[in-house]
Amino acid sequence: MGHSAAVWDFRAATEITKDQNGIGQVVLRTPQGASARVSLLGAQITSWRNEQGEELLFTSSKTISKALKATRGGIPICFPQFGNCGSLELHGFARNRMWAVDENPPPLPANDSNGKSFVDLLLKSSEEDMKCWPHSFEFRLRVSVTTDGDLSLISRIRNINGKPFSFSFAYHTYLLVSDISEIRIEGLETLDYLDNLFQKERITEQGDAITFESEVDRVYLSSPNVIAVLDHERKQTYVIKKEGLPDVAVWNPWEKKSKSMVDFGDEEYKQMLCVDAAVIEKPVNLKPGEEWTGRLQLSVVPSSFCSYC
Ligand code: BG6
Repeated sequence: MGHSAAVWDFRAATEITKDQNGIGQVVLRTPQGASARVSLLGAQITSWRNEQGEELLFTSSKTISKALKATRGGIPICFPQFGNCGSLELHGFARNRMWAVDENPPPLPANDSNGKSFVDLLLKSSEEDMKCWPHSFEFRLRVSVTTDGDLSLISRIRNINGKPFSFSFAYHTYLLVSDISEIRIEGLETLDYLDNLFQKERITEQGDAITFESEVDRVYLSSPNVIAVLDHERKQTYVIKKEGLPDVAVWNPWEKKSKSMVDFGDEEYKQMLCVDAAVIEKPVNLKPGEEWTGRLQLSVVPSSFCSYC
């Protein structure tokens, strides 16, 4: 691209456009050519590309762009719940709402801005949502791409209610993989997990690393803050670093469930794996005026380079 980071105007590298359905989206670029795209619908990350322009997140070819519905892929933001409980919509309403660009966010540490292409988005409680979740909040999301091409997401949720409230949360991350049967997750072995395929039964993981040969729908509890998803065929590793997010949801629908999902191709389960940094088992409790922060940083390294261990 011929630009050095020293003269690169990171602000100017943030472009607001419209997607094919006329919905606002923000494109972030780095001087080295990495990029990310964020939709104002749900603040969903819809693309993350490395310096070679290769896509790193899965999006279904069958995804349905319906008014105010998250699309199938990328990183939908799940709040104020992950899963399905009570009268709230599955995985919460935040992913199905229009967010605004936040022109004046409260400051973050300088490290979260310097040398990064970023945008701040904001969702506030609406009267409509208060009917099923009667709590006032401000949800600020900073999405950044670093000069190394890492994708960083910082969520700050503030209670502006008169009373405490609690919530669960997930970055529902659809990683693009070469072949699910060649994938290994490291960092979750020996942990307890809740198995959604068996009424949330609590099971202790026995294997050395997590591999895939059938449907998986689990929530690993109290995991380390760094985990790795190794893609043997592509010879690359996704490194997932998280803070404030103790749990990790792991999901692959496999063959039968794929066929039952209208917005998902029958064979697409082979090219995706959801590994979601989350707070699920013990919801976050926020007193009036308090703020919670949950950080996710995704990077890709060659599999021989084991910086996470
Ligand atoms: C996973 C859940 O995280 O998300 C699954 O554990 C669910 O049970 C999947 O089917 C997809 O959810 P949705 O709402 O995007 O279809």
